[in-house]
Amino acid sequence: MLIKSKPDILPSEITPESVYMSRRKFIVEGAGLALGVAAGGLSTQAFAADGDGLRARAPADVVRSAPAPWWVSKFASIAPAAEGGPFSTEETLTPYSDVVSYNNFYEFGVEKGDPIANSGRFEADPWSVTIEGEVDKPGIYNLEDILKPHALEERIYRLRCVERWSMVVPWIGFPLADLIKQFQPNSKAKYVQFFTLFDPSQMPGQRSRFTTISWPYREGLRIDEAVHPLSLIAVGLYGNYLPPQNGAPLRLVVPWKYGFKSIKSIVKIRFTESEPETSWNMLAPEEYGFYANVNPEVHHPRWRQDMETRLPQSLFGSTRMKTEIFNGYGEQVASLYSGMDLARFY
Ligand code: MTE
Repeated sequence: MLIKSKPDILPSEITPESVYMSRRKFIVEGAGLALGVAAGGLSTQAFAADGDGLRARAPADVVRSAPAPWWVSKFASIAPAAEGGPFSTEETLTPYSDVVSYNNFYEFGVEKGDPIANSGRFEADPWSVTIEGEVDKPGIYNLEDILKPHALEERIYRLRCVERWSMVVPWIGFPLADLIKQFQPNSKAKYVQFFTLFDPSQMPGQRSRFTTISWPYREGLRIDEAVHPLSLIAVGLYGNYLPPQNGAPLRLVVPWKYGFKSIKSIVKIRFTESEPETSWNMLAPEEYGFYANVNPEVHHPRWRQDMETRLPQSLFGSTRMKTEIFNGYGEQVASLYSGMDLARFY
């Protein structure tokens, strides 16, 4: 997102041709399935118990043939998103094929189609997460220990990228607050920092000579933002386990902030007393702040932020819409920032 300077977004720009063509294929061939999902078939059914059942919801041409990870067995008990509840929008879902093929995951390349093309052999099982810093229960926890205590649920959130495209994604996960409680941060823990896996052998972007990011990718939240009920640790989407390109096996989702805060494939969580380093801020502090709250009045130097394009783009045009303060979650989160100058703390 830093690398190219872009003027106003055009439909021809937003999607690489190969992805566009596969999307078109999906629109034509998968129209029945897409309609079924958009009409709410998903949110009114209980989830199937096994990986194959879950995968059957997704168009065959974009589903990987890898065996389902063990944690899919937990999906059987997931409560579908509550309609009209504070945690889910009823806006039309972005089709599965777009959610898993139009990605930002620079560890796998800088083009939107690179993550799906380059992550097919990514190993997300076994996985462990290191917990460190201002916390009473530091340690290295395997994914089973992380997931076991938590009931999973579905949440349908808007995702707004600073590049001015947006999606509506049905995530599966559990509140970040519950994960944080598990490790008992102490009174000095004012911030939480997250790190993505560093493994150049699996992640070509990390061994690229042209990379400008200092790996590993890292992000952070103030502790009150982290324990806000909207902050989610996601382990799945669309009733399916999280594919590598979307941040397998577990990622953060913070729906009122620009997408770059929602860090993928987390291997370390550090509790700190002072504001931690974050990747985009380290790279271009005048462009990317620590807070990164969606704000139609505070513009990025290269992208005005008052409008957005909702994916998918179609042959018949694009859906341009006004961007809402805090990505439409103002009622829930504005109080976190009362008295703060949002133009200064961007
Ligand atoms: N996490 C890591 N580790 N690396 C990345 O490049 N990109 C971010 C975020 N998380 C990124 C990341 C950006 S810019 C966005 S918009 C979202 O992931 C995109 O999430 P999606 O690909 O699942 O839509």
